[in-house]
Amino acid sequence: MHITFSGRTALVTGAAQGIGQAIALGLAQAGARVHLADIDRDGVQLFARQHGMTAHIADIGDRAAAHALVDAVLAGDGRLDILVNSAGGVRGQVGRPIEDVGAEDWRAIFAANVDGAFWLAQAAAPPMRAAGYGRIVNIASGAGLRPSLTGIQAYTAAKHAMVGLTRQLSQDLARFGVTTNAVAPGFVRSNPSSERQWQAYGPEGQQRLIEAIHTRRLGQATDIANAVLFLASDQAAWITGQILSVDGGRS
Ligand SMILES: NC(=O)c1ccc[n+]([C@@H]2O[C@H](COP(=O)([O-])OP(=O)(O)OC[C@H]3O[C@@H](n4cnc5c(N)ncnc54)[C@H](O)[C@@H]3O)[C@@H](O)[C@H]2O)c1
Repeated sequence: MHITFSGRTALVTGAAQGIGQAIALGLAQAGARVHLADIDRDGVQLFARQHGMTAHIADIGDRAAAHALVDAVLAGDGRLDILVNSAGGVRGQVGRPIEDVGAEDWRAIFAANVDGAFWLAQAAAPPMRAAGYGRIVNIASGAGLRPSLTGIQAYTAAKHAMVGLTRQLSQDLARFGVTTNAVAPGFVRSNPSSERQWQAYGPEGQQRLIEAIHTRRLGQATDIANAVLFLASDQAAWITGQILSVDGGRS
């Protein structure tokens, strides 16, 4: 099977960090024109410069900003074929007792992980429907299927919401040739928060985590990106509404 994105335009959010960057690189290497978006101005601009991609600075949790982002891609390329919602994460938070979680902390995680994916899908749906073609791939998490290793209640709830959103978008849009799927990554040392989390486990905790993975190794950002590339490809046309765990197998 030969996957090519020649002639396709993709928008990848959360592209100032490991997983979003690996997805963007994979799409570009297979021929896509890639637009990157992130709230982290320096990170996304540096990566875009290094790889000849187009950077957009946007807070995708804001509806108007998300719609403006899609408009900017359409203004530049005249099309949007692939939307990868990788922005999200824990927004610098750590697990805390439920009594200590403030409203802003809760909202920040939902805004980044769910609101943004919905606003972008909402903006991308009309042009994709009109083209009779689209691929939406959401980056959920093992935390969207079970309690999270992070211990962050909002993160688990938001990723579960993203799983539901994936299924609903599929039902709404697949009849128009627009598929929606999610990849649910296992633990990847791809950003400062997951690196801190890994260090906090200590040697014994790290060993336990690895022993719970069937492949006996942690995943890398490229493991996640490869699954996204398949779901974003023409070849995945009859796969939609699915949540693909990419986690090395978990016991
Ligand atoms: N690393 C892991 O172990 C792991 C595991 C499961 C799922 N995930 C998910 O994978 C995705 C990518 O994670 P990652 O490891 O690359 O790092 P990450 O979670 O730090 O990356 C998230 C990116 O999203 C950006 N972002 C956050 N809020 C935003 C907003 N409102 N608007 C625009 N951009 C915003 C951040 O600046 C960052 O660059 C995230 O959705 C994360 O939840 C990661």
